[in-house]
Amino acid sequence: MIIVGIESSCDETSCSIVKNGCEDIATTINTQIDIHKLYGGVVPEIASRLHLENITLVIDETLKKANMSVSDVDAIAVTYSPGLLGSLLVGLESAKALSLVYNKPLIKVNHMLGHIVANNIGHTLEYPLISLIISGGHTDLILMEDEKSFKYIGSTLDDAVGECFDKVARILDMPYPGGPNVEKLALSGKDTYPMPDILSDDEYNFSFSGIKTAVINLNHNKPGINKADLAVSFEKTVAEILVNHIEEAVKITNINKIVLAGGVSANTYIRKSFDDFAIEKNLNIYYPELKLCTDNGAMIASAGYYEFI
Ligand code: KG4
Ligand code: ZN
Repeated sequence: MIIVGIESSCDETSCSIVKNGCEDIATTINTQIDIHKLYGGVVPEIASRLHLENITLVIDETLKKANMSVSDVDAIAVTYSPGLLGSLLVGLESAKALSLVYNKPLIKVNHMLGHIVANNIGHTLEYPLISLIISGGHTDLILMEDEKSFKYIGSTLDDAVGECFDKVARILDMPYPGGPNVEKLALSGKDTYPMPDILSDDEYNFSFSGIKTAVINLNHNKPGINKADLAVSFEKTVAEILVNHIEEAVKITNINKIVLAGGVSANTYIRKSFDDFAIEKNLNIYYPELKLCTDNGAMIASAGYYEFI
């Protein structure tokens, strides 16, 4: 079964063609980062206009790469929520148009489910699993008994973890999106600065505003602070918070399959922390291939495949 996946919820216009939910035949990702960088973050109005300029080109390029026409596919999957309203509309209306013109079923896909199912590309997901979505807008701990069930165990009480990376990058004078830049800077530093105690409650919720404030204060109050060292201390604390929450979730659920998802799961230090934890506790840990950590059409096509069958 061949599914086209269309994604336009934030600042990436993407289209993929995926076979049987797991084989990525062709993917095109057009990122708007260079433009939003000028403003320090995503400007919704600009994002939707750029999606409009690029959507047909991206779909066309993907079909060409796959040597296919829309008539060759079985269904069209598209992100419907959550995301920026104007941006979502561009992908949705394009998918609806294709669906009407070519008489193909239209499948709506939740963007967060898409991030989890990105792990299904090249490796079939097995259930039950615990998923940790760590993206620019979300930090969610989710229990999935099967591919249709979606139970929130915990969420962030303030900043999302990717948002926190982006803000810390700005404090350290680095451009949007901050995550990859903080990661790069941290490679040349060492863990030096104290970070506040990690909030923990019975709900398995997260909080990142405390460490963000600690980074702001350290940067303001200590002239000549070593920014690379500060980046390491920040990144290490974030990784500890994430691993500790998963440890708790494993304890209450007894589930031994952990799936990371979302842009921040591209972070090598965080991946390594989870690898070490998985070895220590004899758990299975999965994360998407690097290009599928951030927004893409393949994850939408894969989630759409399960919705469709
Ligand atoms: O999943 P995503 O592409 O978009 C949302 O749905 O939000 O995630 C984007 C977020 C940004 O905050 C970005 O800074 C972060 O993922 N990110 C990273 C890394 N690569 C992207 N954070 C830490 N380390 C990275 N290597
Ligand atoms: Zn996303």
